[in-house]
Amino acid sequence: MKIRFKNYWRKTSLKKKEDGIFLLNHIKKIRPRNFLEIGVFHGVTSRNVCELLHELHGNKFKFTGIDLFENDTGKLDEEIAPNIHFSNPLKNIYYRYIVRRDPYSYQSVLGLLKKFKENVNIIKGNSNDVLKEIKTEVFDYIFLDGGHKYETVKNDLKNLMQVVNNNGTILCDDYDLSYAPGVKKAIDEYVLDNNFNLKILNSRFAEITKYLK
Ligand SMILES: C[S@@+](CC[C@H](N)C(=O)[O-])C[C@H]1O[C@@H](n2cnc3c(N)ncnc32)[C@H](O)[C@@H]1O
Repeated sequence: MKIRFKNYWRKTSLKKKEDGIFLLNHIKKIRPRNFLEIGVFHGVTSRNVCELLHELHGNKFKFTGIDLFENDTGKLDEEIAPNIHFSNPLKNIYYRYIVRRDPYSYQSVLGLLKKFKENVNIIKGNSNDVLKEIKTEVFDYIFLDGGHKYETVKNDLKNLMQVVNNNGTILCDDYDLSYAPGVKKAIDEYVLDNNFNLKILNSRFAEITKYLK
């Protein structure tokens, strides 16, 4: 199976293809059936992950994604979803005048994932509330890429404790970003307080597990 990471003419935090491919290979090794992504944005990683899980398990997988989709309300918090505009003007024209749908919206992400509609659950809301409501679910793999403030990451990690499988993996993006130091601080504290294992992968991902793999 050749691993490819496509951007579907959208924006993603995994701008460098190598990072996307690294993430997909990491997921492939773990072969999760029940996947959670916190921070879906345009749905690029979600779609790539669904393609991979479908190759691995056919229809026997579940993908849950959570995002504020702040722009849906028209009240965009710059700190939450910075730079939603494309540097390529053609893409701005395409989404504004041709598709007439903001790619950073609940409906647009559902459209991108419609091929997997039986397997996908996209939840619009704040991870801090949503994670408390879905605590009956157990995920094998969680990609944490939502809010990057210290308090948000700290809360997300605390709430994830109830929804991650004992052998599960939490992979956090943007560990050690100079402009978002709260991510590293929250992760380091969480791992230390709970005596979990931490590995830094590909210089940007923090892998957290309860037991060494
Ligand atoms: C860096 S982007 C995610 C990128 C995406 N994972 C990818 O690979 O392309 C961060 C996303 O987290 C969302 N977000 C920020 N704070 C959040 C919160 N408290 N709850 C849910 N989503 C949040 C933002 O709306 C934004 O879409």
